[in-house]
Amino acid sequence: MNTDSFVFSKRLIKNFHTVWRAPSNIALVKYWGKYGVQLPKNPSISFTLSNCVTTTEVSFFPNDKKKYPTFEFYFNKKERPDFHPKINQFFDYILPYFPILKDHHLVISSINSFPHSSGIASSASAMAALALCVVDFEKQFHPELGEQDFFKKASFLARLGSGSAARSIKGPLTLWGKSPAFQNSSDLYAIPFESGIHPVFKSYCDTVLIVDRGKKKVSSSVGHQLMQDHPFAVNRFDQAHKNCELLKSVLKTGDIEHFIEITESEALSLHSMMMTSRPRYILMQPNTLSIINKVWEYRVQTKIPISFTLDAGANVHLLYPVNESDKVITFIKSNLLHYCQSGQFIEDQVGEGAKKM
Ligand code: PMV
Repeated sequence: MNTDSFVFSKRLIKNFHTVWRAPSNIALVKYWGKYGVQLPKNPSISFTLSNCVTTTEVSFFPNDKKKYPTFEFYFNKKERPDFHPKINQFFDYILPYFPILKDHHLVISSINSFPHSSGIASSASAMAALALCVVDFEKQFHPELGEQDFFKKASFLARLGSGSAARSIKGPLTLWGKSPAFQNSSDLYAIPFESGIHPVFKSYCDTVLIVDRGKKKVSSSVGHQLMQDHPFAVNRFDQAHKNCELLKSVLKTGDIEHFIEITESEALSLHSMMMTSRPRYILMQPNTLSIINKVWEYRVQTKIPISFTLDAGANVHLLYPVNESDKVITFIKSNLLHYCQSGQFIEDQVGEGAKKM
């Protein structure tokens, strides 16, 4: 795999300041299992969100040539050295592509629109926003960098921070990972979904029911590793490939029935992988299952096409067309709130992707 085109070799230094806002995303076909440096074992497709966002401001100051980049990190206006290991690892990974980082001191300040303790992973939006700031800096020396290449490189760098962050650059849907069904697809970066999207999916809603606000007992990094000698890995990767292909036509035609079938199956397959790995573990909680059962009952009774998907955690993402919002929110408030920790839920919707502020 040739990554030479991603190397930025100019060694100029200067002051620069930029601010980017990047959204979170929710996978419809899940990425679970990786190889090399943050490369996916199977392609994945996600909805880009609009309300759950990270806004990151970076100031670059010339610094005497150092061996490593130096930085300060502020989260919600407070200095947070506890985030340094994650950012240091990201800088280690991107340094070969961006060596001038060593010639600068960075002051990074991030704010999340969603509560930090909501159990919603913020690494995708956070890494995407930081990667965009870095590529924006590069563009100052490289004005010929076109829009498409700018976002491709941002996705490439974001991936090195957190795999799913590669999908948090563009919207409303993105595909990450090589798939024979999608021209221009790559394991290195995500691409905007260009195969035609039915209008119903461009405004789809995702309401996140917060079942558990705490930190996950088993991290996603460990989960990805456990796929390495997982007894069902080959079949799982094959299933994800097929589901990407199936979802491609479903998203184009607006076939919600099959959308539900594919995405709910993906969510449960992801959790089945966790339950059948060695060691085995369960991230769903009793309230996760209660919500799923209630959603299934409600769908049968009302014919409202509401469905669920899950991330690597206990929270439930409810997916439904925007024209059903009023009814679904009433249903959530009257039937599902007592399964949510402190009655917390977050309303979100498919969005257009990251923005410079
Ligand atoms: O990006 P990571 O390494 O945190 O992995 C994310 C994996 C899932 O969220 C479970 C699935 C996905 O495709 O986003």
